[in-house]
Amino acid sequence: MKLKITVVAGDGIGPEVTGEAVAVLKQIAEQGGHEFTFTEKRIGGVAIKNDGTPLPQETLDAALASDAVLLGAVGAPEFNSLAPDKRPEGGLLQIRAALGGFANLRPCFSFKELTVNSPLRPEVIEGTDIMFVRELLGGAYFGKPREWNKEKGVGYNTMVYTSGEVERVARIAFQLAQKRRKKLTSVDKSNVLEVSQLWRAVVTEVGKDFPDVALEHQLVDSMAMHIMNRPRDFDVVVTENLFGDILTDESGVITGSLGMLPSATIGGKVNLYEPVHGSAPDIAGKGLANPLGAILTAALILRHSGGLEAEAAAVEAAVRKVLEQGCRTADLARGDKTGLTVLSTKEMGAKVRETVEKQLLAASR
Ligand code: IPM
Ligand code: MN
Repeated sequence: MKLKITVVAGDGIGPEVTGEAVAVLKQIAEQGGHEFTFTEKRIGGVAIKNDGTPLPQETLDAALASDAVLLGAVGAPEFNSLAPDKRPEGGLLQIRAALGGFANLRPCFSFKELTVNSPLRPEVIEGTDIMFVRELLGGAYFGKPREWNKEKGVGYNTMVYTSGEVERVARIAFQLAQKRRKKLTSVDKSNVLEVSQLWRAVVTEVGKDFPDVALEHQLVDSMAMHIMNRPRDFDVVVTENLFGDILTDESGVITGSLGMLPSATIGGKVNLYEPVHGSAPDIAGKGLANPLGAILTAALILRHSGGLEAEAAAVEAAVRKVLEQGCRTADLARGDKTGLTVLSTKEMGAKVRETVEKQLLAASR
């Protein structure tokens, strides 16, 4: 299997965590005789400093010429006063748009060993396994007109969807549900927003093609509450861009740390893979960052771009295993540390690689 991967590590903890994800991929390539090539390019704040723009053309060209793009994180406090499109985050939105992936898959699961890290009670979160499908290229993020008019003292954005945009992401969500527990929850705000009424009508219509999937609709405000109260009730959840942004951060509470959550964006020219967490500038460069979200993102590359399901599952199993063994990065080791080993970013990466290696060896015997 050959894969050309462009690595855009970005800002803050991005380089540290993607370094560990790449190391895991290299190990798998070596062990399985696969040919993965990695090209590093700049994005975000580091690109603004070096190239004067958050998404240099060179980065975009490399990304478009690859099979998968692995992104770390973007964002740095020094650029906070810039206009949205000039900020590091602008580079992320531009690369998302250029690669064309509209379905952002964000799995959310509880790890038994990490239930103590969640403020929610173990009996509420244990066994949670939700697949969020966040529409990534529409809604208020990209809608026009948009403006902050300082003279007039007015600012506005446009939350807009076409039925085609809703249909294509709904289809992916239904297909995922068919392969899982056959339940799809569509989230909108159709009691107030016309754009949500369109959303609900289109999802309902697409649902007719998937009679084996139970479809339910939820309003985003009460959904925010249901996710905390009864997360196990949800299988696949599909929603628009901004609601998905908010609900997936919220669902990080179930896992106990945003540092654990991966994502894959599919449906476009080139798939884009990024952990859900941000650049965490406060802990950058200190070896404190949790690389597991990035490593689980690497597993998604293996699954969705490489078709290497066994290898993807081995990485996911290895992450569970090291947690079982008591290995934690600092963010995961709050409170009572009895029985836990607190590891640096690099040590955690090494531990996962060692475990993946053993898993794959055992499987090949
Ligand atoms: C995310 C992030 C981004 C988003 C930011 C950094 C632009 O919060 O991936 O969830 O809002 O999509
Ligand atoms: Mn977000």
